[in-house]
Amino acid sequence: DQWKNSREAGQCFALSWRSELSESGNQLLIEAAKVARLRSVAPFSNFRVGAALQTAAGKVFTGCNVESASYGLTVCAERVAIWKALSEGERDFTDLVVVADTEALTPPCGTCRQIIWEFAKHATIVLANLRGQREEVHILDLLPRAFDARFLKDAARETDRR
Ligand code: THU
Repeated sequence: DQWKNSREAGQCFALSWRSELSESGNQLLIEAAKVARLRSVAPFSNFRVGAALQTAAGKVFTGCNVESASYGLTVCAERVAIWKALSEGERDFTDLVVVADTEALTPPCGTCRQIIWEFAKHATIVLANLRGQREEVHILDLLPRAFDARFLKDAARETDRR
């Protein structure tokens, strides 16, 4: 019985240690996103956003929003981070942090939700601001019933038949 208790205590310690580790890991990722945010190129909106994407192996890719004078060509911080990571051959992502200086935490826009669904659906998403607030969200909640490549398969079968 004593052994069982000590084993439980050990497990309890390991669990809290692990969650503290991921907490501090998150904090590092938040700091990386904050630094990226400072590199934001947002002369039109002055709305600065930073993102940090972590791979399963622990590598971090950051992004900031980059605005175009042709406004619609602007790219969000989240997508910049995802494109950078994908173009370096990374495919497996565990965490994505988005930082903006807003009281209500800034969530990814609709376009980014689609891209997160397609390329980083298993990543835990953390929204954070400069006041130390943070919230974990999940892509399934942000983008329910998403469209993706599964739906294209039917069309491919259709052309095969022709
Ligand atoms: N923006 C992001 O970079 N990420 C978001 O999650 C929301 C919006 C950028 C795009 C644009 O440069 C500026 O914020 C205002 O929309």
